[in-house]
Amino acid sequence: MANLWSGRFDSAPNAEVFDFGKSLGVDKRLIDDDLTGSSAWAQALSKAGVLTPTDTDAIVAGLEAVRAAVHADPAMLDRADDEDVHAFVERELVARIGEAGKRLHTGRSRNEQVSVDFRLYLRRRIPMLQRGVVVVVEAMVAQAELAGQATMPSYTHLRRAQPVLVAHVWLSHAAALRRDWDRLETARREADLMPLGSGAIAGTSYAIDTEFLARTLGFSRVTLNSIDTSGDRDFVASFLYACAMCMTRLSRLAEDVILFTSEEFGFFELADEVATGSSLMPQKKNPDPMELVRGKAGRAIGVLAGWLATMKGLPLGYNKDLQEDKALAFSAEDDLAGCLMTSAAVVRTLTPRPAVMRQAASGLLLATEVADYLVGRGLPFRTAHEVSGKVVRDLYEAGRDFSSLDLQNWQRYHPLFEEGVFRAITPEAAVAARLTPQSTGPGPVEAALADTKRWVTKPA
Ligand code: ARG
Repeated sequence: MANLWSGRFDSAPNAEVFDFGKSLGVDKRLIDDDLTGSSAWAQALSKAGVLTPTDTDAIVAGLEAVRAAVHADPAMLDRADDEDVHAFVERELVARIGEAGKRLHTGRSRNEQVSVDFRLYLRRRIPMLQRGVVVVVEAMVAQAELAGQATMPSYTHLRRAQPVLVAHVWLSHAAALRRDWDRLETARREADLMPLGSGAIAGTSYAIDTEFLARTLGFSRVTLNSIDTSGDRDFVASFLYACAMCMTRLSRLAEDVILFTSEEFGFFELADEVATGSSLMPQKKNPDPMELVRGKAGRAIGVLAGWLATMKGLPLGYNKDLQEDKALAFSAEDDLAGCLMTSAAVVRTLTPRPAVMRQAASGLLLATEVADYLVGRGLPFRTAHEVSGKVVRDLYEAGRDFSSLDLQNWQRYHPLFEEGVFRAITPEAAVAARLTPQSTGPGPVEAALADTKRWVTKPA
């Protein structure tokens, strides 16, 4: 079979080896972008006086006809036997318009073509992932609103640390997800450079107006150097990093959801619609979807590490190794999209159990409040910490908590304890005492919720 480069060779390629090098099965996803980039290229050639207006019109119309045909019958791409999506487009174009179609590739290389295609692709697809991040943040907002003034323990070292508002926990995930949105935005900006005009590596000898191409294709800038451009897939690495980081986030969220919906915590009830059962144990209600999110995060990290390893040994310029980028990026994209959707669906449908959470937030984790109470009454913090620690030690040994102490008991530890101690040592008082804007105080959390809701309507 003739391919894009058979002219130089005496014999046909080894069919199995040729098949091994084919990428159409993967890069068919770039079909729309290849057509868009090719149409702009034809117009740039026309502007440079390389193509006649008649040929240009025929090419542009022919490319649109290919687009219509592929949209009507996407399986066309599966039936085709071309080396890659670029070869597919050229063959389909020539089949439709003949001779003029053979002029399209003038002054252009597939090295820059695949770069422009992939950049166009990521530029239009990253916003969909960002939208997915917003949907997860919306689920956090819904849970934060549902939580009202409910309290729960926060954890450090997975040990009860201090009481916090349940809303504060959801908004903490939201705050982190906003960074993920930003990281995707950075990746989108990095993809936003127009590479055409770089040729195979040395540039092109036709008077191509690269600014015109950038404008036509909606790019903000033109790449700086043709050698760099032909072998540059940093933008792919940045995309994979943004995906891996967001997947890492969702994995940590998954871990929280799995723990908090377990019998041991019982802080939330998993909705039936997002849980699975066991074929053997009738009592089981498993969080499979979140376990899968956690599992897929491992893959996302592997994809990033794998891609960096592929790039690290390459000499300057295009090398075929770079063809591997698309399979990795598409799998990262698909996994992230699925995990965002799943996480939002699970979080949105969690039912809180405020009584269980408050109970867990009412024990010895109020020890900091005991110390702060004494500080408020004039004791130096270090001394207050010691007194509180002694109370905790005794209560822990007796299997009791602060609520079991009467005033006499309190005063045995320090004379500064008075009636007010009973009001000060509750989860609600602990939360209300937190004042800084990042803290779990009801005022700061209300402001954070308002800020998050504003962000959801206009993320940036
Ligand atoms: N399929 C190739 C890729 O994805 C397109 C560029 C091919 N260039 C070449 N010189 N073989 O990288």
